[in-house]
Amino acid sequence: MDTTPAGAALKSILVIHGPNLNLLGVREPGVYGKDTLASIDGQLQALAKELDLGVKSMQSNVEGEIVNAIHGAAGQCQGILINPGAYTHTSVAIRDAIAAVGLPTVEVHLSNIFAREEFRHHSFIAPVAKGQIAGFGPQSYLLGLRALSGLL
Ligand code: DQA
Repeated sequence: MDTTPAGAALKSILVIHGPNLNLLGVREPGVYGKDTLASIDGQLQALAKELDLGVKSMQSNVEGEIVNAIHGAAGQCQGILINPGAYTHTSVAIRDAIAAVGLPTVEVHLSNIFAREEFRHHSFIAPVAKGQIAGFGPQSYLLGLRALSGLL
C-alpha cells in the first residue's frame, strides 16, 4: 500500500560511495566483508521502500565528481548518506561541499576506523555531518539511512 499522502513528494536521499568501494566483495574481505556494492545498494533500496524514501546511489573514485554530486543534490534531495572512503581522511573539498549545500548528511563506514591505523582516526567530514556510524559492515549504511529518515 502506498502510504505517501496524496500530493506529498517522496523524500529523496543521495547515497555516495567513495573511492575503491566499487571493489567491495573482492577488496580486503577480512576488513570490508563479502557484500558487493550492488548488494548494499539493494539493501538500501529495500529499506528506503519501508521508510517511504527515495534513494539514488552513485560511486566515484574521483574527488571532483563527488563534489559535483553533492552540489547536484541541492534542491533535488533532502539528505545525503556518504561513505567517503579514503577521502574521509584527506578531503577538505568534500567537507566544504557538504557545508555549502547544507543538506543533513550522515557519514558511514563499513569498518571501525578508530580501531585501525591512526591516519584513519581523523575525519574531515564528521564536523559537517549530523553524525557518523562506523564498524557495522553493510549495517552501517542501513543504520545511517534510518538515522537520516528520523532527521527529515
Ligand atoms: C572506509 C574506511 C576508510 O578508511 C577506507 O579508506 C575506505 C573504506 C570504510 O567504509 O570502512 O575506503 O570508509
